[in-house]
Amino acid sequence: PTLLLLNGPNLNLLGTREPGVYGATTLADVEAQALATAQRLGFGLEAFQSNHEGALIDKIHEAGRRHKTGEIAGVVFNPGAFTHTSVALFDAISGVKPLPVIEIHISNVHAREAFRHHSYISPAAAGIVVGFGTDGYTLAIEGLVRKIAATG
Ligand code: DQA
Repeated sequence: PTLLLLNGPNLNLLGTREPGVYGATTLADVEAQALATAQRLGFGLEAFQSNHEGALIDKIHEAGRRHKTGEIAGVVFNPGAFTHTSVALFDAISGVKPLPVIEIHISNVHAREAFRHHSYISPAAAGIVVGFGTDGYTLAIEGLVRKIAATG
């Protein structure tokens, strides 16, 4: 089975975008590291990044369909700023249950501006990883795999 790594808006700029907040690791590095982590745990990995809310929604729907066939076991999702705005992404994740979706944020959103403290995604997430830098993607994959093993 395969895991899906989803990254939302502006995460294509990782490495050059506010390196003091998000670090110097690029999205290509994150995706390569995630693939290595998934493979170490016996899974494949597909990665997708988009700056477009609708494209992310479509990808979640597709993952829901492919979960039913046993092809996609779970999702690690950094929704970027859509975290704080998107009822539509909350509805998409709610609509593909029981597909497990782990929400991840590179930065500690709770230590930043007040508008980053609320997440529309969290109530639909199977787990949340916040504030571990890009290492959080590794932690999220490890946690997702434990959840998959626990739920069968
Ligand atoms: C982020 C946090 C969000 O508030 C921000 O809009 C991002 C990245 C993070 O990974 O820390 O784009 O999701």
